[in-house]
Amino acid sequence: MPAIQVAPSILSADFSKLGEEIAALEQAGADIIHVDVMDGHFVPNLTMGPPIIARLRKLSKLPFDVHLMIEEAERWVVAYREAGADWISVHVEAVPHLHRTLQLIRESGAQPGVAVNPGTALTSLEDILPACHHVLLMSVNPGFGGQKFIPESTEKARRLAGTIRERGLATLIEMDGGLDPTTVREPVVAGVSVVVAGSAILSRPDRKAAVGALRAACATG
Ligand code: DX5
Ligand code: ZN
Repeated sequence: MPAIQVAPSILSADFSKLGEEIAALEQAGADIIHVDVMDGHFVPNLTMGPPIIARLRKLSKLPFDVHLMIEEAERWVVAYREAGADWISVHVEAVPHLHRTLQLIRESGAQPGVAVNPGTALTSLEDILPACHHVLLMSVNPGFGGQKFIPESTEKARRLAGTIRERGLATLIEMDGGLDPTTVREPVVAGVSVVVAGSAILSRPDRKAAVGALRAACATG
């Protein structure tokens, strides 16, 4: 089983001081910085684009995991890589030529991933799985932080983990939405190894304690 990686989502950060927020997350022991990119079309919210990410990139050594909740992602993936994205996820619901887009991400030097909404069946991933470094399973409907975890997501992770195992793949399962110390353990037991958490970490003044609490709750021993 791969080691658990904690990926705070800066969607819940104070956007007027993103640089300081990221430095504090690095200090707090985060493994990855999860960056939510929303275009106001694929999801009903708007966040940030490549110029902001490029500026933030200079402030941290941690990998940047860029979650693209945008239409026409294939037009933008290279710009996000150039801005400093290490992992790039595109939504299966938003990208018609998924294989080509993942190839583009890989050729750009980033790790390609596919994000899947709660209402989308895992069968949509069947043929694309070998091309994925990670699958980003949404455990809330994308667009906003602070939503309630959808419990059926655990079973979805379990089924995906089974498929990955049967097919001898190394694809990581990342989960995003509503994860906190009370909800994270079951998905981790089911096979999630990359834990995204926005409000559970950034709504607490002590970021180190918040990351620690999440990690402790993941411990499956
Ligand atoms: C939602 C985003 C998430 C969000 C998670 O569309 O993809 O990354 O920031 O926030 P929490 O952990 O608060 O649900
Ligand atoms: Zn996200």
